[in-house]
Amino acid sequence: MSRAELIARIAGKDALICLLTDTVDAEVMDASPSLSIVANIAVGYDNVDLDAARKRGIIVTNTPDVLTEATAEFTWALILGVARRVVEGDRAVRSGGWKGWALDYLLGTELRGKQLGIVGAGRIGSAVAAKAPAFGMHAVFAHHPSVSALGLKTMSFDELLVTSDVISLHAPLTTATRHLIDKRALARMKRSALLVNTARGAIVDEAALAWALQEHLIAGAALDVYEREPAVHQDLLKLDTVLLAPHIGSATRETRTAMAELAVRNVLAVLSGGEPLTPVAGAAA
Ligand code: DGY
Repeated sequence: MSRAELIARIAGKDALICLLTDTVDAEVMDASPSLSIVANIAVGYDNVDLDAARKRGIIVTNTPDVLTEATAEFTWALILGVARRVVEGDRAVRSGGWKGWALDYLLGTELRGKQLGIVGAGRIGSAVAAKAPAFGMHAVFAHHPSVSALGLKTMSFDELLVTSDVISLHAPLTTATRHLIDKRALARMKRSALLVNTARGAIVDEAALAWALQEHLIAGAALDVYEREPAVHQDLLKLDTVLLAPHIGSATRETRTAMAELAVRNVLAVLSGGEPLTPVAGAAA
């Protein structure tokens, strides 16, 4: 639905079930004075203006938990994919560029014994960390008060940048995390390091990432999310060292069905006078 269509069709509605591609701001909310709930089919909710919702007494819900495993599994698909150059290999086979087995052909990097640095210790970051021992990796988290409370191994963000072999992003997009991975952060990383982002595109400065890859300041990256989806920075498109996925971290039949059902259950709960199942903190409840 285009924004104009959304604004036109929301008139007179009590509930909105929306996608992360819908910007739900004051203008959209004001198009239906009876709106009481915005149910986002996503765990991230940076597309919804929480202040505007709070001022209007509108409840905002998201879809946590149901997508944790799917997104964690996909994060590992990206880690393995970029470490072992799977997509480059596929391209070579299809294009006829593969000339047969060779001792030094498409050499990747092994994960065993390496450090996985996780930024964001919510459900998905923790689920990614839980799978690290299966690949012989040890996970560390960027320091945050909530992480220490869980008894996980933490270090400062700077130490994590300097010492990690793979860095995986699992933080929400906020003013504090926008361009958290900028030129400075990339320059602190190991030259052999890999960066993985399945969170939100704008946590990474895409122009800075393209520069860091071109300058071989880091070895590779795997992205599922972008600053201006579906557009991808032109320089990234030219680089073989970055694996580019089309925002499919939670895209399994099971999970997308569960996400949609959870959004519907939130709406039914609120419209029947009950409490929302998964309200977003900071919004009206
Ligand atoms: C989310 O839920 O926020 C993901 O980006 C899509 O599943």
